[in-house]
Amino acid sequence: MLVLGIESSCDETAAAVVNDKKEILSNVIYSQIAEHKSFGGVVPEIAARAHLEKIDIVVRKALSDAKVELSYLDAVAGTCGPGLIGGVIVGATFAKSLAMSSGLPFIAVNHIKAHALCPRLTNDVAFPYLLMLASGGHCQLCIVRDVDDFEVLGATIDDSVGEAFDKVAKLLELGYPGGPVIEKNAKLGNDAKFVLPHPMCVKNTMDFSFSGLKTAVKVAAEKCESEQDKIDLCAAFQKTVIEILRYKITQAIKHCLKEKIKISCVVMSGGVAANQAICKSLTNLCEEFHLNFVAPPIRLCTDNGAMIAWLGIEKYLSHEFDELNFAPRPRWPLN
Ligand code: KG4
Ligand code: ZN
Repeated sequence: MLVLGIESSCDETAAAVVNDKKEILSNVIYSQIAEHKSFGGVVPEIAARAHLEKIDIVVRKALSDAKVELSYLDAVAGTCGPGLIGGVIVGATFAKSLAMSSGLPFIAVNHIKAHALCPRLTNDVAFPYLLMLASGGHCQLCIVRDVDDFEVLGATIDDSVGEAFDKVAKLLELGYPGGPVIEKNAKLGNDAKFVLPHPMCVKNTMDFSFSGLKTAVKVAAEKCESEQDKIDLCAAFQKTVIEILRYKITQAIKHCLKEKIKISCVVMSGGVAANQAICKSLTNLCEEFHLNFVAPPIRLCTDNGAMIAWLGIEKYLSHEFDELNFAPRPRWPLN
C-alpha cells in the first residue's frame, strides 16, 4: 500500500510517500525558518502564503523522488489540524483536491497523533506504550493503546516544552528555532552556574508548567555579564528541562506499574525529541525500569510528511477514511 502524506500546519511545507512495509520512499521538507527568523517566531500570515507558494513543488518532488505517479497511490493523507489555520487550510485543501481529481480516498490526519504514532513507522513499537509528546505546540504524557485510543495522563497548563526552548532562545537573543541552538550551547556550558525552578514537580500530578521556568531564565539573563554566562544559562535551562521530564516520566511509569498497564516501551516524539541530551538521559532513566526508550531519528522528530503518510496507512488499515468536506481545525485534541 502506498500513501502520500501532506503537512503544512506550522512552518514546514512537507510531503512524503510511505508504504505499509514502513519504507519511506520520499520525504521532502521545505522549511520556512528563513522567512520567520527575523520575527523571532512563526508569523501565521507569512506561513500560510509560503505554504501556498511551495506546496505544489514539494508534492511534485515527493512523487518524483519516490518514482511514483498519482495513479500508483492508494490514498492521500493531509494534516487537517491542529495548527495555524491558514497553513492547515492550504495543505488540507491541496490534499483533498488531489484525492478528488485522482479518485483516491482522502484521510484527514491529526498532526499531534501523527507525531505520536511516528515511532511505529521508525521502530517496532507495540501498543500500549507510554508517550512523551513534546513539540512547539504540544506537551502531553499519554498511554497510547491504539490508533484511536489515547489516555492523557498529563499536559501542560501553559507553555509547551518546545515553546519554552523558543522563548528562552528569544530572550537570550539566540534566534529561532530555539531548541537546536540551546542544545548546541548547552554542550559548552556549566549547567551548575544557575539554579532554576522545577514548576509543578510535586507528587500526584503529571501535568507540566514551563512559564515559571522561562520567567526564572529571564530574571537570570538580566544578570548575565558575558557570552559565557549566557551559554551557562542555556546549559542550566536544558538540565532543568531534562530533570522535569525525568520526574514526570518516572511518575507515569510508576502509575503504569501500579495500575498493571503493561507498556511495551517509553516513546518520545515531536520536535523536542530531536534533542540528543534529553534522549540520552531518558534512555538511562528507562533502563532503571528495564524499559526501552524510543525516539524517531532527528529528521522525523520535527514536522515532516512521512509521519502524516504513516498515520494515513494506520487509518487505512483500520478502514478509516474521511469525507472531502472534513473541516480544517486550529484545535483538535487527542482524546
Ligand atoms: O514538532 P515540531 O517540528 O513542530 C510542532 O508541531 O510544534 O517542533 C518544533 C519545536 C520547536 O519549538 C523547536 O525549538 C523544538 O521543536 N526543537 C528542539 C530541538 N529541535 C527542535 N527542542 C529542543 N532541542 C532540539 N534539538
Ligand atoms: Zn509538529
